[in-house]
Amino acid sequence: MGLERLAEVREAFLADLEAAGNDPEALEAVRIRYAGRRSGLLQELTAALRELPPEQKRDYGRALNELKKLVEGRLKEAAAAAGSRKAAAKVSTVDVTLPGRRPPRGAQHPVHLVRRRIENIFLRMGYSVEDGPEVEDDWHNFEALNIPPDHPARDDQDTFYMPSGHVLRTHTSPVQARVMERQSPPIRIVVPGRVYRRDSDLRHSPMFHQIEGLVVDEGITFGHLKATLETFLHELFSDVAVRFRPSYFPFTEPSAEVDITCIFCGGSGCGVCSGSGWIEILGSGMVDPRVFEKVGVDAERYTGFAFGLGLDRVAMLVHGIPDLRLLFSGDQRLTRQFA
Ligand code: PHE
Repeated sequence: MGLERLAEVREAFLADLEAAGNDPEALEAVRIRYAGRRSGLLQELTAALRELPPEQKRDYGRALNELKKLVEGRLKEAAAAAGSRKAAAKVSTVDVTLPGRRPPRGAQHPVHLVRRRIENIFLRMGYSVEDGPEVEDDWHNFEALNIPPDHPARDDQDTFYMPSGHVLRTHTSPVQARVMERQSPPIRIVVPGRVYRRDSDLRHSPMFHQIEGLVVDEGITFGHLKATLETFLHELFSDVAVRFRPSYFPFTEPSAEVDITCIFCGGSGCGVCSGSGWIEILGSGMVDPRVFEKVGVDAERYTGFAFGLGLDRVAMLVHGIPDLRLLFSGDQRLTRQFA
């Protein structure tokens, strides 16, 4: 008992403190062991003061006070160091030099890309881009385009009819009629948009996309039609041959379907072109004078040509997409490839 005991406790405390290091739990254990209110060693040493002979009390008391100060001071320091280390550890989980999180970036759909490409070719030739309703009346979708009441395109096997008698437009051609009704020639337009038919398999979807073209002016000939479409197809597909085949559409006369040499085999014949070497790419013709009469264009003064093609089909050809339905699946694995 006495001063030696104080010295012992002091040594033990310093050793324990060192051992606890920066571990907050170990430090708390050290605090309780030495400075704890109930049974800390300092309490015990204070109680021992009473039992000492009076001549020793003074020195013992002074040494005990010093020890108390040391213990409190060192515990405080250690706790502060442990606390700031903990805070520092927290801060260091944020690396401020890392680049920020990039927002997810979408990609443009292949049909959209093809539409823009085609629009741009015609914009450069002085055309403008027009739009029209997808829910169309019978007049614009059929009647004004000289499609007779018994024409198979009108069959409800092929066409979606609304209860009101409107249809989901079966082609972009009704916009031809709408523009001619409200605007006098010269007219040079392309009309991209969604169209609808009751069809669904590898190559057909109930909704698909077309782009329509219409030119009306004085002195427009089949030569203009041919040169325009050849120029267009060479821009779009570069190295292809183009051929015109006689065809029939109710709203054009004469009419022609246009083929390009197969872009996969170059014309020697393969699976995509069913061995023919040619791929049908668009429908076209000189605007039938009966259409001009129906929409109020002077058929004596003006002539014109029109054409239409499927955007989805072009996207499939250009990108080698085997199933049309993939285009409308919403599967981002497809679109991501066009980022
Ligand atoms: N509308 C026709 C179709 O959907 C295409 C076409 C447009 C043909 C313009 C001639 C002129 O098949």
